[in-house]
Amino acid sequence: MKLTIREATDEDRPAILKIVEAAFAQADEAAIVKKLWEGDAVSLDLVAEVDGEIVGHCAFSPVTADPALGGAALGMAPVSVFPAHQNTGIGSAMIETGIDYCRTRGASLLVVLGEPSYYSRFGFEPASRRNMRWDAMDTGDAFQLIDFAALTATPQRTIRYHDAFYG
Ligand SMILES: CC(C)(COP(=O)(O)OP(=O)(O)OC[C@H]1O[C@@H](n2cnc3c(N)ncnc32)[C@H](O)[C@@H]1OP(=O)(O)O)[C@@H](O)C(=O)NCCC(=O)NCCS
Repeated sequence: MKLTIREATDEDRPAILKIVEAAFAQADEAAIVKKLWEGDAVSLDLVAEVDGEIVGHCAFSPVTADPALGGAALGMAPVSVFPAHQNTGIGSAMIETGIDYCRTRGASLLVVLGEPSYYSRFGFEPASRRNMRWDAMDTGDAFQLIDFAALTATPQRTIRYHDAFYG
């Protein structure tokens, strides 16, 4: 099996939507991806290919902080692996590639909403430890971040994803 992680092209979009919908077994997250594309709001669009076939996708889009913080802040969502290919390391490979990209391009912050038992392995920690909260609701430790810039923990910051995530 040859796994390749690369940036998506416009031609990949129909395949990406199918994968996102299959991964989540519903259309909501694919609709978000579509809205992000329409809003030209994807900072990094990654796909995973196995033997030339797209089987995974991961989008990174700008988030805003209030009060503002210096440097680019990004959210990683949604992350999708086609069901038949899950648990074979594809999600991890995409996430690690995306984190490297954020770090090397000088992002200050990367946030994610998901299972701490999965995302902690990539260096994410609960955002509450850095005094940051998601604007939509309190999800406990599920709202996580990687702080690339040793940001100050005061004042408390509220993080908002792109409008595409808010219905
Ligand atoms: C979550 C997802 C992206 C992970 O990608 P993947 O390629 O299947 O995962 P990997 O092979 O890199 O990693 C496998 C590990 O992730 C764990 N894992 C997978 N999905 C998980 C979840 N939803 N919660 C917690 N752990 C999860 C597995 O138990 C496994 O753990 P182990 O390494 O300790 O055995 C993929 O399973 C998926 O698309 N799921 C459906 C959509 C979804 O829930 N996306 C994330 C929303 S935040």
